[in-house]
Amino acid sequence: MTTVANTPRLAAQGVSKAFAGHAAIRDVSFAVAEHEFVAVLGPSGAGKTTLFRCMTGLLAPDDGTVRIDGEEIGSLHGRARRRVAVVFQQFNLVNRLNALENVLAGRLGHVAAWRGWLRRFSRSDRLIALECLERVGLLDQALQRADTLSGGQQQRVAIARALAQRPVLIVADEPVASLDPNASVGVLELLRGIVRTEGVGVVCSLHQVHLARAYADRIVGLSQGRVAIDMPTAHFDEAAFDNLYGNASAP
Ligand SMILES: Nc1ncnc2c1ncn2[C@@H]1O[C@H](COP(=O)(O)OP(=O)(O)O)[C@@H](O)[C@H]1O
Ligand SMILES: [Mg+2]
Repeated sequence: MTTVANTPRLAAQGVSKAFAGHAAIRDVSFAVAEHEFVAVLGPSGAGKTTLFRCMTGLLAPDDGTVRIDGEEIGSLHGRARRRVAVVFQQFNLVNRLNALENVLAGRLGHVAAWRGWLRRFSRSDRLIALECLERVGLLDQALQRADTLSGGQQQRVAIARALAQRPVLIVADEPVASLDPNASVGVLELLRGIVRTEGVGVVCSLHQVHLARAYADRIVGLSQGRVAIDMPTAHFDEAAFDNLYGNASAP
């Protein structure tokens, strides 16, 4: 499929997934444009993680399609899948490798958790990795072991690793849920900056509504597996909040 300028970075169309007969997400459709930061909100169990696993190709939907830059995310090693970078709540770094080595894993497309592989990377790969560390403000920590970095720094290394993949879309499932408020703001500001400057799309689930309102361009709300709201952040008001969380206790 030819990619045209206004093709969304992500287009989910009618995506459904059930586990043992219980629907986790139902008929979910939404899109993420270039230079757009979309926050996904919803109470616990609403289906956010299931949706994110479908968007990254880790889980095959029962129904519907996920397209990345117009190309269906299909096979495990397809181009579309490589162009989606994932950021996790628990960072998922290799603790005993340094920051640079962890970022280089983004050039591999997977994490090789053994030493001695650094020399297999070309000079250009190593330069890309250093450039990505600089982008997240951690060039000085390039040779520091991952497990000696703070949580916020570890998440920024994970974002550098995502960038090293040269993605068109970054998918982040609760990326600040394990961080203190200061580090959370740092990570979300970084992601928003990347959206603005690199032209990637970001789709990010968040537990705190106020963070979504502060950083997202658009809010997609899931309730019981369905899209309950999909609106520009400026339109997200009390009614939208109630529509989404109903009687569930506020997050
Ligand atoms: N691997 C799985 N096996 C069985 N049920 C699952 C699995 N993953 C998720 N679910 C169920 O799907 C629903 C949505 O879960 P999830 O996507 O994790 O929601 P959220 O991330 O919004 O909390 C829940 O009812 C959950 O129990
Ligand atoms: Mg979840």
